[in-house]
Amino acid sequence: MDTEYRPAREEDLPAMRMVQGLAVHDLAARQGFDVSSMPLDDQPTPPMRYLRRSEPDMSWVAVRDGRVAGFSQGFVRGDLWFLSNLFVHPEVHSGGIGAALLQRCLQAGLRRGASVRAVCSSPELAAQALYARAAMIPRFPLFALEGHVEALRRLPPARARIVRPKASSRLIGRLGSLDEYVWGGRRDRDHRFAQREMKLGCVAIEGDGEHLAAYAYCSAGQVGPLCARRPRLQLELLRAAGDALGEGGGAGKVRVWVPGVNGVAFVALLEAGFRILFSNLFMASRPFGRFDRYIPSGGTLL
Ligand SMILES: CC(C)(COP(=O)(O)OP(=O)(O)OC[C@H]1O[C@@H](n2cnc3c(N)ncnc32)[C@H](O)[C@@H]1OP(=O)(O)O)[C@@H](O)C(=O)NCCC(=O)NCCS
Repeated sequence: MDTEYRPAREEDLPAMRMVQGLAVHDLAARQGFDVSSMPLDDQPTPPMRYLRRSEPDMSWVAVRDGRVAGFSQGFVRGDLWFLSNLFVHPEVHSGGIGAALLQRCLQAGLRRGASVRAVCSSPELAAQALYARAAMIPRFPLFALEGHVEALRRLPPARARIVRPKASSRLIGRLGSLDEYVWGGRRDRDHRFAQREMKLGCVAIEGDGEHLAAYAYCSAGQVGPLCARRPRLQLELLRAAGDALGEGGGAGKVRVWVPGVNGVAFVALLEAGFRILFSNLFMASRPFGRFDRYIPSGGTLL
């Protein structure tokens, strides 16, 4: 059966979401997880929709027999190309669709001038093999940790003054300067998405002059991205995020994605009672950024 590859359209999003859910269920079941509580619906996630709109040349679908059989999504920020999503319907795995979708997204990134390639791979061995063959090699594990908001509040209180900055263009400029030092580049549009569309709360520590020393986004259920000029500031911000969530009535569980090379956050969160749910693998064509002082939002927007 022929497979057609074309840029994803807005109306493909529900089918893309369903393929993602089926592929994740299939992988999780093969790994022995109970999939009954995992979401399986056709409601596109906000980041999926955001990427299709903001990076239309890097969202691709594979269509077989009139149906979406797989998709890829990515973005370029500065010289980084990042693969956000690669999912193929389990019924057509091992037929070359994943490789073709990866290549189309990557080629679009290279045409935009990217010179570094990276992805947060699932534990799927076929995915890791595809990424290595596209010149991305393992750099560190990315642990999904989960714990109670209350556990964050057991971290030592901040010595620095914590601020809760309001969304503004000036704030985005200040966040960008810190991103350049820690993350390796600016990503103003992602901050606009976090603040204006996702309406995430932000806690920060002031630095010298106009500079911020650290920032973190927090929402019910998640802390991150978190970005700090010095690794130890992360703990003060995690505590502040816990306080902000606690005040907002958030007494539930919270997820934090911690790079294995981020020893300060990893050890402190485990000591505070957080548990490792699973780990993914960060793969890149060359090292970049300072992940010993960075906590990503996850494997989609990094
Ligand atoms: C990862 C995924 C998208 C790949 O899609 P796919 O259409 O099956 O991939 P392809 O058939 O194009 O390529 C898979 C390649 O991996 C190779 N491969 C599979 N298992 C392997 C292993 N254990 N070691 C080495 N290579 C392996 C296959 O041989 C194949 O290469 P070939 O065509 O040269 O023989 C699909 O498996 C999937 O959706 N998995 C679940 C979701 C997921 O984990 N996505 C990745 C998120 S980061």
